[in-house]
Amino acid sequence: MIDLNQLAEPGSAEEEILRRIDLARLPRHIAVIMDGNGRWAKARQLPRVEGHRAGIASVREIVETCARLEVPVATLYAFSVENWKRPRYEVATLMMLLKEYIRREINTLQENNIRFVPIGRLDGLDPSVQRELEWARKETSQNSGLRFQIALNYGGRAEIVDTVNRIIALLREKGLTDFRVDEEFFSNHLYTANTPDPDLLIRTSGELRISNFLLWQVAYAEIHVTRTLWPDFRRRHLFEAILDFQGRERRYGGIDESEREMFVEAGEMPIEE
Ligand code: FPP
Repeated sequence: MIDLNQLAEPGSAEEEILRRIDLARLPRHIAVIMDGNGRWAKARQLPRVEGHRAGIASVREIVETCARLEVPVATLYAFSVENWKRPRYEVATLMMLLKEYIRREINTLQENNIRFVPIGRLDGLDPSVQRELEWARKETSQNSGLRFQIALNYGGRAEIVDTVNRIIALLREKGLTDFRVDEEFFSNHLYTANTPDPDLLIRTSGELRISNFLLWQVAYAEIHVTRTLWPDFRRRHLFEAILDFQGRERRYGGIDESEREMFVEAGEMPIEE
């Protein structure tokens, strides 16, 4: 049961937005491109890494809120395969912050029944980071609430290529030469295997790009872009994104529900399987 009191103070502005959300129609998977940490720091004349440090508070709040809303899956883009191009000090700080986050948050993750699932080319990360990730993954693997996927050394194209190679190896191992791969089979061999595709993709800081994030999985996601920079992104902004999502009409390539009726009556609609 979703406990609204845990999500907003009675009488607060957050509660007002929360009340407008239809809790029966929440996204099953929310994906987030956390952007704007550098700009947040720059606006305060701070080093870029301070933006990442401040961004951790947003990660904490958003993950906890998704768990309390009983959203099944949230995926946060923390480090892309392209992010190695950043200054060495920035990369090292991001990795350190990640390790710190795991150690500090493990209890909160457990208390909120959250499963921590790193995705990406994890073997390309420093062994000390890999060990922490694996530790947190194992520690939380029995939790049945929110599946918190954190994308690290992640690229959407890299994921697709890795999936193709994994499937080739699998078929070779099984001696299958005339097996036909379909979309479902392919989906179930991605890093995100057996999780629903994102219904909602949030990008902070106003940029209108997908940036190589979950390329296969976002095929039908509703995209919500906010100008808010990631370190300023709070529960209220998440509620606004969900409200925006609930106001969209999802057609998956079909037609408007209200128009559909007319075509059904005219015998114009194909028989549904
Ligand atoms: C993009 O901002 C953000 C990142 C590349 C890193 C996101 C990482 C965190 C929020 C912290 C690490 C997360 C965890 C869970 C420990 P940017 O630097 O590209 O911002 P800019 O476009 O303003 O320069």
